[in-house]
Amino acid sequence: MTQEDIAFIGGGNMATSLVAGLIADGHDPQGLIVSDPDETKLDALAARFGVRTTEDNAEAVRTAALAVLCVKPQMASRVCRELSLVEWRHKPLLISVMAGIREQSIQEWLGGETPLVRAMPNTPAMIQSGAIVLHATPRTSTSQRSQAETVLRAGGLTRWVDQEEQLDAVTALSGSGPAYFFLLMEILEQVGIELGLDAENARLLTIQTALGAARMAMESNDSPRELRERVTSPGGTTERALDILESGGIRALVTRAVSAACERSEELSRMLTGTL
Ligand SMILES: NC(=O)c1ccc[n+]([C@@H]2O[C@H](COP(=O)([O-])OP(=O)(O)OC[C@H]3O[C@@H](n4cnc5c(N)ncnc54)[C@H](OP(=O)(O)O)[C@@H]3O)[C@@H](O)[C@H]2O)c1
Repeated sequence: MTQEDIAFIGGGNMATSLVAGLIADGHDPQGLIVSDPDETKLDALAARFGVRTTEDNAEAVRTAALAVLCVKPQMASRVCRELSLVEWRHKPLLISVMAGIREQSIQEWLGGETPLVRAMPNTPAMIQSGAIVLHATPRTSTSQRSQAETVLRAGGLTRWVDQEEQLDAVTALSGSGPAYFFLLMEILEQVGIELGLDAENARLLTIQTALGAARMAMESNDSPRELRERVTSPGGTTERALDILESGGIRALVTRAVSAACERSEELSRMLTGTL
């Protein structure tokens, strides 16, 4: 892939984060083109990053080796149908980050078999710390998969799944996951204050503890279970707290919550496909 060739359709939050990540990785900004109907948004992107911009989606993709669909799911059919009319010089690899829009629908709207990768990012991708899961259609070549991975890596860690349906589990785990951790942090911070800490200490200790635990889990060869057991001395404070969480049913509760998110993802996907 030459550097000149990446188009972003829709210049909102997700496109901005990926552009920021690519440029931080040393990508030539003039090799990136963003299309969006909002001229003010485009001017801001051009001023901030030095990328090329256009209000015309067809112009953005015409010479691109790779085009990332970054519009809201509700705009999916309209944008794909618009792209189906483009007279390509070379048909680009398409990456869709649109939540819940199935590959079959995208292919139908595009009017043919297009090399396509679906990606499910999460919000920390905004600061290049996301978890981004990809799934490729069978027509996507190995080199196209690696192109897609190179672009999405700008948003954080990338992983692949073999089956498209697994993206619903991904949505429930890492897509909605930041909110689960934010909730836990919100509770810990509040309890810290109730136990007598000042608000700033409670906030910073909570955040640093979450960050430290995540880094230890990422950098260690031990499982979270082993790490937990190692910091739980018999008769100590951690054991007392964990006993209460376990006897209160935390495992069943979290399992029920994440399974419900997975079901909701399937439901939303069906609704989006049925209504577009
Ligand atoms: N943000 C996340 O953390 C996240 C996580 C997972 C997946 N996603 C997926 O990423 C996609 C983009 O999300 P986002 O948060 O970046 O949304 P966003 O900030 O609303 O960006 C979408 C952009 O597309 C523009 N747009 C509307 N119609 C268009 C058209 N016909 N052609 C080109 N551009 C058009 C919008 O302009 P207007 O604002 O003027 O309409 C907006 O600037 C969504 O499909 C979402 O499901 C996002």
